[in-house]
Amino acid sequence: MTTQIQIAIDGPAAAGKSTIAKIVAGRLGYVYIDTGAMYRAITLKALNKGIDLSSNEKIGALLESTDIDLQPSDSGQLVFLDGDNVTEAIRSQAVTAAVSEISAHESVRMQMAELQQRLAEGRGVVMDGRDIGTHVLPAAQLKVFMSASVEERARRRFAENGLRGIETPLVELQAEIAARDKMDSERKVAPLKQAEDAIYLDTTELSIEQAADEILALAEERLS
Ligand code: DC
Repeated sequence: MTTQIQIAIDGPAAAGKSTIAKIVAGRLGYVYIDTGAMYRAITLKALNKGIDLSSNEKIGALLESTDIDLQPSDSGQLVFLDGDNVTEAIRSQAVTAAVSEISAHESVRMQMAELQQRLAEGRGVVMDGRDIGTHVLPAAQLKVFMSASVEERARRRFAENGLRGIETPLVELQAEIAARDKMDSERKVAPLKQAEDAIYLDTTELSIEQAADEILALAEERLS
């Protein structure tokens, strides 16, 4: 009997992956790893330092001398960039607009995948991202590809932003999400793609609890 498994949750922007992955990890007592936050952290550093975002070499070199750390806390996962808490800063519009360009670089993806594999080694994890089931944890015992209509995803992001005092109009969010999906799906290295052995979960009509329960039921199957 397996005692702990690896769960990979992939899917497009704002599909509810991180909210649901956090719940699943909490219920199973597993570590939750938000890989999008890691790409956002290096993007923030590149923006702050004014480094050419289009340069695979420069961004790769920047990442080599960067420390990204994820820490659980009572208020959710905290993200540290070279020791500074950047949990809020990585959610800015500027970072969101630039992160797909940065995460398309091969130099960045190779280092990130290695780091993510190390974080997952030898323990129960729920990892969310775009390429977890296809590249980072290809042997994960449970792979879920989570999606929802772009309209519903924009509505969810709008509601979430409202709570944080961000007032981007709904149509703008919808356009931003669609543009990011396109870039993430069309990049050459490790694009957003459903793994062949992943289970597709459409959350358009599901509540957060229902989606988490579906994944927990699948996890129980794998664990028994
Ligand atoms: O999940 P998120 O919206 O925070 O992710 C931000 C961006 O990071 C996303 O648009 C693409 C990139 N990303 C990636 O390329 N691979 C991952 N495993 C996770 C995120």
